[in-house]
Amino acid sequence: LLAALVLVTSAASRQGTTPNIKEVFIGRCWDYQEIRYNTILPIEQKNCSHLWDLFFKAFSYHAPCDVRQVNYDQYLQEAKQSLPANKALFWSGIYNLAHQFSDNGINYVTLEDTLIGYLANSLTWCGQENYPGMNFSACPTWTDCPLEASESFWSGASTTFAAAAIGPVVLMVDGSNPNKPAYRRDSFFGKYELPGLNVSKVPSVQVIVTHALGAVKLEVCGNGTLVTLQNDIEARGMTYTCDDNPDSVMYLLCAEKPDCRECKLAK
Ligand code: APR
Repeated sequence: LLAALVLVTSAASRQGTTPNIKEVFIGRCWDYQEIRYNTILPIEQKNCSHLWDLFFKAFSYHAPCDVRQVNYDQYLQEAKQSLPANKALFWSGIYNLAHQFSDNGINYVTLEDTLIGYLANSLTWCGQENYPGMNFSACPTWTDCPLEASESFWSGASTTFAAAAIGPVVLMVDGSNPNKPAYRRDSFFGKYELPGLNVSKVPSVQVIVTHALGAVKLEVCGNGTLVTLQNDIEARGMTYTCDDNPDSVMYLLCAEKPDCRECKLAK
């Protein structure tokens, strides 16, 4: 029994479904439409309770590792919106800086600025076969099983976001992470977003390689996995451009750490 218990706890290592998830989801949904994004990314009015019902239906009363991407199709179809041209920003391995750069949809639009991403961002959820259909004590992580409820969701969300992009897109990656190459074909970007771009509408991918201040520049434009990225983008018929820490990014980095050597050199 002890061995079984250890097994169960190590497989279900993540917290359970976010408490009050329904209320959080529906509250975020009205907030998105009426306040936060109502001038930046206006959308035709969506019924938030209906969206919750579709989202809930996708994973509830299913075992947590038995939720396919297709389960979310109806929800994604209902919640999707069109994107403003020339504004889509993808990111991989670098969440905070990418979101400072996009500035809540003002400079660029990330998946998390769309209704689909905004409603689910940083929530945890998974199903169980018994009432109430969600497990509030423990959920598996996305590495625990191939058909994990939130991984299936985020892969569908990424696919939907990429398909909506129009005009040149930007991709921000991290060239200074010793544990993660800048471009990985098995990332969400590599698996769902790059292949999901509609090349008749997206002529180019502008890659921004960022380097944390004071960190070693492990990969820069023109070397390492950025060569593979260039090949993958061009093989799909799009133009590739690449910049290492352009001024627009340097200023953001230096605003946070003005005393860094690179920031003083830039003066
Ligand atoms: N399932 C669930 N979460 C995952 C998975 C997965 N298979 N893979 C990664 N994550 C988590 C990571 O822990 C991280 O917090 O998703 C986040 C993004 O992972 P990264 O490795 O940083 O980048 P990437 O896999 O390319 O995903 C980011 O996809 O989310 C969309 O539009 C978004 O362009 C962005 C890209």
